[in-house]
Amino acid sequence: MKKILVTGGAGFIGTHLCEKLLNQGNEVICLDNYYTGSKVNVEELIGRKYFELIRHDITFPILIEVDQIYNLACPASPVHYQVDPVQTTKTSVHGSINMLELAKRTGARILQSSTSEVYGDPEIHPQKENYWGRVNPIGIRSCYDEGKRCAETLFFDYYRQYNIDIKVARIFNTYGPKMQLQDGRVISNFIVQALKNENLTIFGDGAQSRSFCYVDDIVDGLIKLMNSRNDFTGPVNIGNPDEISILELAEKILKLTGSKSKIVYKPLPLDDPKRRQPVIDLAEKELGWQPQIQLDDGLKKTINYFKSRVLYNKL
Ligand SMILES: NC(=O)c1ccc[n+]([C@@H]2O[C@H](COP(=O)([O-])OP(=O)(O)OC[C@H]3O[C@@H](n4cnc5c(N)ncnc54)[C@H](O)[C@@H]3O)[C@@H](O)[C@H]2O)c1
Repeated sequence: MKKILVTGGAGFIGTHLCEKLLNQGNEVICLDNYYTGSKVNVEELIGRKYFELIRHDITFPILIEVDQIYNLACPASPVHYQVDPVQTTKTSVHGSINMLELAKRTGARILQSSTSEVYGDPEIHPQKENYWGRVNPIGIRSCYDEGKRCAETLFFDYYRQYNIDIKVARIFNTYGPKMQLQDGRVISNFIVQALKNENLTIFGDGAQSRSFCYVDDIVDGLIKLMNSRNDFTGPVNIGNPDEISILELAEKILKLTGSKSKIVYKPLPLDDPKRRQPVIDLAEKELGWQPQIQLDDGLKKTINYFKSRVLYNKL
């Protein structure tokens, strides 16, 4: 049994990760400041013998004995990370320093949940880990993108300077149950709009593409990376290479929900990347990982979750 700290553990991906780690027989400490996560997300875990919940902001240091740290804390949706951009950068930068210092003190292995956003609006398609990215350093998305890039820098400098046992995952668009319903991410937006028979809003012409990975696959990839061979640090892309245009996605969700909604178009927000698709050869080779869940199956599970929220008037 390992003692595992999951920062951001009450968020969307963190909740699924905590549950899986517990089910694998570990002791899990879920740390969160509930900025975008909530206790409701982990309500089924509260009371389990090896689950502990701590309210804490990682921009401040914390001292606890652990064997592994998954550093997930950071708002991931533009709607949320742009509300307080200074705090977003602090969470990535100060937060990473605090978690890396904790790893240094305890000898814990530490995994950073980085993002495909480090590639920015890429000139190279699809994106491989050796691509350095094309990020606007002063735009409205920079607090997140540059914060995450600096966090990667810190992870590699702690590795080189202090020999910290690091792993860096570059996560691509993820979806599934427990996504926040109103956080502006495209899948949650479309499903909520479809279920309410409201217009589905496409920003731009809908030709921009994304590659969506179901949350269970992401969690599986993160755990495989954490337990990968000692000298493998990453960065490694964790995402689904199946690319789909936003228009196709909207049409698929309309079909799966049986909604009568119409599609409407609005201007594209600033610095919105046009294409995103991971090359996952490295994850396949090093982790023996590839996504297992098809988009249609994952969407059905997500729609069912959102429907249950509609029934309870939580939309
Ligand atoms: N969901 C995606 O598509 C995606 C894609 C790429 C990377 N990621 C990364 O994965 C991680 C988890 O993303 P998510 O989708 O679950 O987002 P989320 O917003 O649902 O979860 C983030 C969690 O971190 C917590 N948090 C934020 N700031 C904190 C702080 N200073 N101290 C303590 N807790 C804090 C929030 O309350 C929330 O529970 C993030 O680091 C994100 O950047 C997510």
